[in-house]
Formats: sequence, C-alpha cells, structure tokens
Amino acid sequence: MKLEVIFSPVQTDELFYTGKTTVIIDVLRASTTIVTALTNGAKEIVPVGTIEFAVKVSGGMFGGQTLLGGERNTKKIEGFALGNSPSEYTKEIVSGKTIVFYSTNGSQAIVKAKYSNNLFICAFNNLESLAAHLKELNEDVVILCSGNNNFFSLEDSVCAGRLIQEIADKSSKVILTDSANAASAMYKTFGKNIKKLLRETEHGQLLLNNGYENDLDYCARLNGTNIIPVYSGNALKVLK
Ligand code: MLT
Repeated sequence: MKLEVIFSPVQTDELFYTGKTTVIIDVLRASTTIVTALTNGAKEIVPVGTIEFAVKVSGGMFGGQTLLGGERNTKKIEGFALGNSPSEYTKEIVSGKTIVFYSTNGSQAIVKAKYSNNLFICAFNNLESLAAHLKELNEDVVILCSGNNNFFSLEDSVCAGRLIQEIADKSSKVILTDSANAASAMYKTFGKNIKKLLRETEHGQLLLNNGYENDLDYCARLNGTNIIPVYSGNALKVLK
C-alpha cells in the first residue's frame, strides 16, 4: 500500500480524490472535535463548505435533533449552538444529535475530498485504531492535511507522520512517497512532545491568544478512542 501526504488542500482539486481512500487531518481543531462528537454519541456530523449552507441545511432538518457547530476566526458563529472546542461536544449535548459543522479549514477539506471511495477522519486521539483499519483495508492512502488558510500546518503534518509510522509498524507492505517520508521525518523531529508542539505552532499560538488553552491539551490526547469517523451519504458517522 502506497501512502501519500497532501500538505494543503490547495495542492489538489475535488476530482483528485475520486475513488481514493482519503484521511483528513485538522488537529487544531476540527478533526479532534469530530472524533470527540462521535465518540460521545453524536448520530452524525454533516460537514459544509459555507456558513450560509450550514444554516440552510439545518433549517431543512428535524428541529431539536440538529445542532449547528463550528467556528469563524476561531470563535463560535452567531446563532450556532456550539463552537469548535472539542470539550463542548459532551455526551449530554451531542448524544443522538445530527451536527451541521462548518470550520475555516477542516470542514472545507472534507467537502473537497467528498468523492473519495473511503473518507476517514484522523486526530491524535484515534490514530491507532485508524492505522489498524487502514492496514486491514490494504488500499493506497492519501492523507490530506487541512492546513491553515491553504498554508502549511505543522501539527497536521506531524499527525500525518505519526499515522504513517503506526501503519508502517503494523505492515511490511508500505511504500512511502516523498511526501510521506517528509511527514514521517517531521514526526520524528517534532512529535516527541505533542502538547509542547501544539503550543508552539502558528495556529496553536492563535488559539492560546484567544483563550483556548484547554483545547490544546484536548487536541494533544493520544489514542484515547477507537472511533473512526467515516463519510457516508453526506455525513460523517462511526465506522462499524
Ligand atoms: C479549522 O477547521 O479551520 C479549525 O478547526 C480552526 C479552529 O481552530 O477552530
């Protein structure tokens, strides 16, 4: 199986993902929030590319069972029930709910890759179980880092490197492309202390300055859940 990393969504267009097995990473914070929401019993997450579309989609859904979640400029969006802090997505709040979700980079990366044959979400917190599943699947994998407004994001790339490492540890049949080798090297250099890394990255600094210190600790959690979000019928659900 060949592993490839796309370091920013701007490198590719929608058609690139057609028929592929794709993993989306947005450590700070969208992929961590999505993994948390589904771990805490959310029925599904509907990722959308614009705030207007989020409002439109939720308007057509069954009231009470649907929540709007996400952020603009790191902050909760006016009229939305939830922001983009994973700790907001508790069992009490999200259990059984459909969450229509918009975020600056993460939800848009998911929408871009929606024509993938298999589309999974990765955070530090579900890396191990996702690696085991990908090994079983034995398909070539494209890992898409959501990045930061189309620029490179170190935390996503280090997470990609850790995922690659976990897959390579489980399978001898792994071929690393140049980009996968680069992500792997970044993990080896920067991945020893994830909490510290998240505090030092550009987006980590922005979150710290906006008062989201607790989110950084949350997003650094490693392998605390075996939930794998999979995109199916326009929504992310728990892989059974
Ligand atoms: C995003 O999708 O851009 C991020 O999750 C931004 C954030 O930290 O809320």
